[in-house]
Amino acid sequence: MKTILVTGGAGYIGSHTLIELDKAGYRPVVVDNLINSSIESIKRVEQITGRQIPFYKLDLRDAAALECVMEKYNFYACIHFAGLKAVGESVQKPLEYYNNNMTSTFVLLEQLKKHNCKNIIFSSSATVYGIPEEVPITEELPKGQCTNPYGKTKSMLEEVLIDLQNADKEWNVVLLRYFNPIGAHPSGDIGENPNGIPNNLMPYITQVAVGKREKLGIFGNDYDTPDGTGVRDYIHVVDLARGHVAALSAMERNCGLAIYNLGTGCGYSVLDVVKTFEKVNGIAVPYTIMPRRAGDIAACYSNPQKAKVELGWSAEFGLEEMCRDSWNWQKKNPEGYNTGE
Ligand code: UD1
Repeated sequence: MKTILVTGGAGYIGSHTLIELDKAGYRPVVVDNLINSSIESIKRVEQITGRQIPFYKLDLRDAAALECVMEKYNFYACIHFAGLKAVGESVQKPLEYYNNNMTSTFVLLEQLKKHNCKNIIFSSSATVYGIPEEVPITEELPKGQCTNPYGKTKSMLEEVLIDLQNADKEWNVVLLRYFNPIGAHPSGDIGENPNGIPNNLMPYITQVAVGKREKLGIFGNDYDTPDGTGVRDYIHVVDLARGHVAALSAMERNCGLAIYNLGTGCGYSVLDVVKTFEKVNGIAVPYTIMPRRAGDIAACYSNPQKAKVELGWSAEFGLEEMCRDSWNWQKKNPEGYNTGE
């Protein structure tokens, strides 16, 4: 059984990936500093899988702490989710973002190299395309100018990993560019658990639906899109999680450097998401049109063919399932993982 180091495994995408790793016969080991995540997610994953998940609370910048974990296991690969990810906050606190996301990855890579684990999957983002020259976006499109430090750390870390693989061909580096993950595990026991006011669309919608917020603000209805609202490629987080398992199988074939979009290839507008959520769940989501949000683009959706052809992976869930499962999680856990205990 192959052991996988999962950094940030207590987070939204990480926790869902633990379940898919377990299903596929891998043994995940989690390191997470829990600054934006909850140990409760790991407990819930253990309930769902019926298996114990080794967990270490540590900050990746603490090389000595990480080294202790590296010495304990013989890791086949690392899936590196850990990082700060709030776009607006990254503009306010650039040093924190650069220090955290860059330094933690440098320490991690040194440790992986030292312990001869040269397989890494990196959580990148569609944000690296900047304002895309065209949609749907293929991996061949040039990267663009990111408007915020969060996006820049993703783009720079891609470069770091590409240089590393170029210098030492023993490395297998898979860069996964996520589009917009939403949804939750169908059990409703794990899901997205944002701190404070959500920045992203779906958690805001579910908090309006559950009565925590009065109404959704739609950021602009004058974009050059069919209904004027922003168009994105929403992908069910369980599909995204499965994409990581597919990427691990590419490593078994010694893929070298590989870059994949993980999206569905379908673009939906903000109004499409609101209407589908209302229809599927039978619950109203009041909204108001607001000015555009700085840094937003009109349309961003993937061409997911490369992952389909090379990894045999494609998204299975549609927008209705995404809306159903997001609501199921929020309804069962109105306070997220804050169970009040
Ligand atoms: C954002 C980040 C992206 C990051 C991703 C993580 C920016 C510019 N991009 O993507 O780098 O990888 O989150 O999940 O911030 N919307 C509303 N009202 C809201 C919230 C969002 O109308 O309250 C709209 C947005 O204008 C956009 C769409 O919903 O058209 C999706 O927004 P969001 O969920 O924040 O994701 P992105 O902006 O695409």
